[in-house]
Amino acid sequence: MFGKVKIGTILTSLAVLVLVASFTVIQPQQEQFFLSDNDDLWTVYEKLGKIRFNTVDPSVKGVSAEKGRDIIFKGYSTKQDGKGRTAQQSPYFKCTACHNTEKEFDDLSDISAQNRLDYAEKHDLPFLQGSSFYGLVNRKTFYNDDYQKKYGHVPIIKASNTDIRKAIQLCATQCAQGRALEDWEIESVLAYYNTIGLKIKDLNLKPAEKKEVETAVDNDKDLHQAVHLLEAKYLATSPAHFAEHKTYSPITEAEKKDTESFKNGQLIYERSCLHCHEAERYSFFALDKSKFSFVNLLNRTKANKDGSIYKIVRHGTWPLAGKKAYMPLYPIEKMSEDQLDDLKIYIENMAIGNNLAVQ
Ligand code: HEC
Ligand code: HEC
Repeated sequence: MFGKVKIGTILTSLAVLVLVASFTVIQPQQEQFFLSDNDDLWTVYEKLGKIRFNTVDPSVKGVSAEKGRDIIFKGYSTKQDGKGRTAQQSPYFKCTACHNTEKEFDDLSDISAQNRLDYAEKHDLPFLQGSSFYGLVNRKTFYNDDYQKKYGHVPIIKASNTDIRKAIQLCATQCAQGRALEDWEIESVLAYYNTIGLKIKDLNLKPAEKKEVETAVDNDKDLHQAVHLLEAKYLATSPAHFAEHKTYSPITEAEKKDTESFKNGQLIYERSCLHCHEAERYSFFALDKSKFSFVNLLNRTKANKDGSIYKIVRHGTWPLAGKKAYMPLYPIEKMSEDQLDDLKIYIENMAIGNNLAVQ
């Protein structure tokens, strides 16, 4: 009897010991942090102690990402108080005439014009003069380089360089040639931009790099290093350098057989020029894939006047008599010199009836 009790007590204490021991093993010190593909980059930065910028001002009433999206895609939204709709922002353009809202590169740290065109083809996107709104809230400066060099004397262009709200307003009134946006409209556009910030998956991190960021958060150590690692994976600006226009030189025999350039030129024509000019979508100047269009463009280019493709691509057109539609120029980052040559090879071949795509 006595012996039984003793054994019983020993067993109970053993069980308690085992329980306590396993409890301390299972119970983790703190929750571990894991990066996942869909994590918003800004949220990760905040965990690394970085202070978020390009945020929405919560004191402005009637702001929503949905309204911002409508302004960008349709040119109007429901009013600030939610009743009825606003006036159209611009009679000429939607923001999407010149800007995509999707990612435009596989590798966001290598933004060459040809990478952008290849990506546009693969993902069926237009190829436009403006930078994508995707990841805009992760950028620090706007209207960079030659936009500042050439137009920086204009106060709003200068101010737009470091102020996302002024950049939005500048583009609404100058690029889109429309009415000024109200404060709550600008905040709504910004709210929408904040829904299309960069995500962890956009940075193509290697497993070891993910680990480094996770460890930094877990140990609350080397936070700056982790921030630098992430920042090196994309550009926080859209570089913009202008080029002078070339003059026409006749097509060579080699160019009449250059299928590769021809096809690249065709991509540019379809994904860029036709985006605005097909069926007069954003321009009264209609272009299509008829021989007439190509002969017309070739003749303008031979004449070396303002309608030359070399001049129009490098200088654009200007809204001369007050407000009207105009064509923005392409900086070399948005169309390289090689790409412009390819476009010319495509147009001239098509104008002389030499369609290399069907051979
Ligand atoms: C006719 C073409 C066009 C239209 C329409 C247009 N934009 Fe732009 N936008 C540009 C160009 C060109 C730039 C030059 C800088 C760049 O994007 O790289 C630019 C720049 C910007 C920038 C700064 C981007 C950066 O990274 O430097 C913002 C923000 C912007 N636009 C917002 C808007 C909004 C909002 C609308 C609509 C209300 C709009 N844009 C309509 C052509 C246009
Ligand atoms: C973002 C929209 C947009 C894109 C992209 C675009 N254009 Fe334009 N383009 C315009 C607008 C707007 C005008 C102003 C003319 C008008 O509407 O009356 C214009 C004018 C022109 C003109 C002069 C027409 C005239 O009235 O003499 C030519 C030529 C031209 N574009 C060719 C091109 C070519 C070639 C491409 C492709 C590399 C291209 N455009 C891409 C919007 C665009």
